[in-house]
Amino acid sequence: MLKVTGLYKSFGKVEVLKGASLEVKSGEIVVVVGASGGGKTTLLRSINYLEKCSAGSIEIAGEYLLKDGAYASKEEIRSIRRNIGLVFQNFNLFPHKSVLDNLIEAPTRVLGQSKEEATKQAMDILSFLELADKANSYPFELSGGQKQRVAIGRALALKPKLMCFDEPTSALDPTLTGEVAKVIRSLSTEGMSMLIITHDMEFAKMVADRIVSMEDGRVLEKHIYSKEA
Ligand SMILES: Nc1ncnc2c1ncn2[C@@H]1O[C@H](COP(=O)(O)OP(=O)(O)OP(=O)(O)O)[C@@H](O)[C@H]1O
Ligand SMILES: [Mg+2]
Repeated sequence: MLKVTGLYKSFGKVEVLKGASLEVKSGEIVVVVGASGGGKTTLLRSINYLEKCSAGSIEIAGEYLLKDGAYASKEEIRSIRRNIGLVFQNFNLFPHKSVLDNLIEAPTRVLGQSKEEATKQAMDILSFLELADKANSYPFELSGGQKQRVAIGRALALKPKLMCFDEPTSALDPTLTGEVAKVIRSLSTEGMSMLIITHDMEFAKMVADRIVSMEDGRVLEKHIYSKEA
């Protein structure tokens, strides 16, 4: 589902990604851990085309976003990016919109779904996330764990093939981490591929099929943990 090879990225003179390589197979949950400043967020942002890299390849669902240092066309990039959902640590919900409206905004705007269609799909997603009763609430009325589940729902509404999470539990009270872990596990049983960055080893072990470590701009080949091993 995702294949990153030999990725390089610098900010000015500072080289942050130094040949990073990583693979996420279809339906697999890969967790990336590692010391602060190792380049984890930069890697995730590069996969989502929020940062531009100077060398390497990024293949998503069989299409090259970046191939040997050359980016796909603007049109191709737009279509490739539709395959990826991104969830940040601080939720980034629209504060003035209800939970339901947060979930129907992108499908109506980006995918051109009708409001009826988007609403039906959003309610299905909210039921799956056990949030149907919060459809008409506003973000400020929700707990941290609920907000993070809404943020996940909003990404799911665009029907991605790969979901990326950057520190999805770091803004949460530890007792709420299990809520997010449960959602991630149930998405996995539906076949979703996921790439998750976290500092929380306990959370990592709850959700991961495989845990890899990133140090100094590279993903280490030795797995910290593998479910199959
Ligand atoms: N926009 C930017 N401009 C300049 N330097 C940046 C920028 N973004 C990140 N960096 C630098 O790149 C390096 C890697 O940052 P990154 O955020 O990818 O690390 P990280 O592994 O996610 O760390 P953490 O675990 O603390 O979140 C850091 O040294 C950081 O200062
Ligand atoms: Mg980071």
